[in-house]
Amino acid sequence: MHPVYEKLQGCLASIRQKTDFVPKVALILGSGLGDYAEEIEIHQIIPYEEIQGFPVSTVPGHKGRFVLGYVKGVPVIIMQGRVHYYEGYSITDVVLPVRLMKLLGAEILFLTNAAGGVNFDFRPGDFMMITDQISSFVPSPLIGSNVEELGEQFSDMSEIYDKDLQKLLESTAEELRIPLQKGVYIQLTGPNYESPAEVRMCRILGADAVGMSTACEAVAANHCGMKICGISCITNLACGMSETPLNHKEVQEIADQKAPDFKRLLTAALSRM
Ligand code: HPA
Repeated sequence: MHPVYEKLQGCLASIRQKTDFVPKVALILGSGLGDYAEEIEIHQIIPYEEIQGFPVSTVPGHKGRFVLGYVKGVPVIIMQGRVHYYEGYSITDVVLPVRLMKLLGAEILFLTNAAGGVNFDFRPGDFMMITDQISSFVPSPLIGSNVEELGEQFSDMSEIYDKDLQKLLESTAEELRIPLQKGVYIQLTGPNYESPAEVRMCRILGADAVGMSTACEAVAANHCGMKICGISCITNLACGMSETPLNHKEVQEIADQKAPDFKRLLTAALSRM
């Protein structure tokens, strides 16, 4: 058995000792957006420390647990707190939770994050539906011998973000009258924010929003055959685009302010999946 798959089986066994819950959708909540997990009909909460071999987040203020439950009858598994590459984990460990949620039964991965706007038409507080991504600045989680049990090594990436799910998100946002931008997400390693020259680089490369997560998770989910969708909360314009220097607190504050709309959008979208 591939060592990565063996580790996953250990995690899976830890969870299966506690519950036989089978999620349909796996939802990862980005920074500032974590409260949503407490608003669903909760079936069970599993702290990451209770899962054998699971990477535990080191960022202060990031909760680390799975919340299993239902959103209008749809079984979901929510990650309240993700693991970031900048915390020092291997990229394989960073995407382990995604693969684990797939093994638990999740067919859809719904990614969310806080991101910096690179597109001049964006404003802090905008939501952006991710239509495509650039992950080339972090190592591919598929490097190394292929985990045959999960998927093919040279996986096709022509439609990472599922077109039908994109339509679902767009029509849901429209009905709720929540404006939704669309664009390309680029993942850099962080944890420092980007320099103005790097922000220009991102724009030249075709990115609309920049962040420190998500794209590697999508690579792993695409590899193991999950359908993927994603929304970024644009908490700020990227460095050099506004007068004021950027700080983590500002990012949190905007995410908090936008949380009510974000939650409405999530609930309505999840209930249709
Ligand atoms: N850059 C990278 N990640 C981020 C940003 C940013 O400007 N804002 C929130 N997450």
